[in-house]
Amino acid sequence: MRVLVTGASGQLAHAIRLVWAGHELVLPEESVLDLSKEAAIRSVVTEVRPDVVVNCGAFTQVDRCESEAELAHKINATAVGWLAEACEAQKAMLIQVSTDYVFDGTGTRPYREDDPTNPVSVYGRTKLEGERQAARCSRHLIARTSWLYDAWGKNFLNTMLNAAAQGRSLRVVDDQRGAPTTCRALARQLKVAAEQGWQGLLHTTCAGETTWHGFAQAIFEARGIAADLSPCTTADYPTPAKRPAYSVLDGSRRRGLGPDLMPDWHGALLEVIQQPVL
Ligand SMILES: NC(=O)c1ccc[n+]([C@@H]2O[C@H](COP(=O)([O-])OP(=O)(O)OC[C@H]3O[C@@H](n4cnc5c(N)ncnc54)[C@H](OP(=O)(O)O)[C@@H]3O)[C@@H](O)[C@H]2O)c1
Repeated sequence: MRVLVTGASGQLAHAIRLVWAGHELVLPEESVLDLSKEAAIRSVVTEVRPDVVVNCGAFTQVDRCESEAELAHKINATAVGWLAEACEAQKAMLIQVSTDYVFDGTGTRPYREDDPTNPVSVYGRTKLEGERQAARCSRHLIARTSWLYDAWGKNFLNTMLNAAAQGRSLRVVDDQRGAPTTCRALARQLKVAAEQGWQGLLHTTCAGETTWHGFAQAIFEARGIAADLSPCTTADYPTPAKRPAYSVLDGSRRRGLGPDLMPDWHGALLEVIQQPVL
């Protein structure tokens, strides 16, 4: 398959570059494929003639989205509509990566795909609108994921390791529950999904759940670092954007479709620590 990947400088796009062996990958830089420009999207898709487009590009800075809502809407929602139209014209499949932040977090059991959404942030609202835009392409897969990280990229793992290396005391929230998910696991699962033509809305996270504090503890334990780490509450650490208190996603629908390549979050963390380079 010829595969066009947006957001080439991001951490998930990098994982796809490493993991999608056997396919022809095209990952234009943002100067070529700027998602804020409809004409750029149309001309790149027309020129590349992809079988599959994986939209990894997004305005992912959740707090900044609150003050830059217009730009967030353009990148996370409007651009997805432009991609959907361009994919439709090429009869390509569109894979849209979405987020657990489409839920409000008041749930008490893992969210299923058909549970009502109710985002509590600009980021979540724009990503939800992105899902609706992606669904305008007749062949689409919307993969909701959560708490993405890997050995590369700007993410919680690297923030924790850098802070500990500087000897900083760390207070990390212990009242938000979710599933840390490695970019490499998601990339492997999306590869199978594309090859087998899975469609619709799918929850695609690593298995199990923890809090951000539990995740930090596991990181330091895995690396043998005696960090100065303590738990705090969301109320102790106010941020511009609200986050769901509970955003674990139920992956049953995906597991029913074919090979399950999403490991338990803790095993996935150990893989990243033991094998940082793929
Ligand atoms: N990270 C998470 O925890 C998480 C959780 C759930 C879902 N997701 C979703 O997963 C997908 C991949 O996220 P990620 O973690 O790989 O994020 P990421 O590392 O921030 O990558 C997103 C990329 O999109 C690029 N981008 C921003 N504006 C663009 C534009 N106008 N044109 C082209 N590219 C643009 C960014 O470039 P700059 O850095 O230069 O702006 C960045 O390289 C996104 O759809 C995200 O919403 C992420």
